[in-house]
Amino acid sequence: MKGRFITVEGGEGVGKTTQLAVIQQVLASSGLECIMTREPGGTPRAERIRELLLTPTNEPMPATCELLLMFAARSTHLENIIKPALDRSVWVVSDRFTDATYAYQGAARGMPLTDISVLEDLVQRSLRPDLTLLLDAPVEVALERARLRNQGQQTDRFELERISFFERVRAGYLDRAAREPLRFRVIDASQPIAEVSASLRTTLEAYIAGAKVHG
Ligand code: TMP
Repeated sequence: MKGRFITVEGGEGVGKTTQLAVIQQVLASSGLECIMTREPGGTPRAERIRELLLTPTNEPMPATCELLLMFAARSTHLENIIKPALDRSVWVVSDRFTDATYAYQGAARGMPLTDISVLEDLVQRSLRPDLTLLLDAPVEVALERARLRNQGQQTDRFELERISFFERVRAGYLDRAAREPLRFRVIDASQPIAEVSASLRTTLEAYIAGAKVHG
């Protein structure tokens, strides 16, 4: 069976970290070899770009610079980690990918979606995720969870944004999901954690069963 490229998306505080562990467990118990990776990041160079993107500094970050850095990190991640793994028939699970760019740099920052689409084609050619799991929760609920989790930790450049920014992120993601219903599965992340995990498990097991039929 060929490998599949799965991405996990959602705003701050939707519980991605917990659910990524569930995904890894489901794939392992289905006997599938997989790697877990993340964006921005996933390789030493891309992790350095992540630092540039997340660390607050006095020098304002132009939205265009932010967008190009996201795709610069993605290019090295794709060529050095994602594609080689898929070529070996390994499943790849990425904590965020290009839908995050459409939601954060596009819907929330206001960069034209057509510009993002040009960069997507340039960097990825025809490569797109096979399955995208979107963890969705009302912004107030999610930000409260993120606040509790982050107590005592450094706040990154995105976490400094206001509520309206995260409302646009959420709307941007839901818009992507509505446009591509075959690729997306939207999981209600406002449920108690055990129920979110159970929904995710059921969704992923159904996807894996389908993949096993198609090869
Ligand atoms: P994280 O919270 O999943 O660690 O991601 C780091 C931040 O980077 C998060 O606030 C979302 C943001 N981000 C973008 O703005 N655009 C992107 O394309 C990606 C991959 C992440």
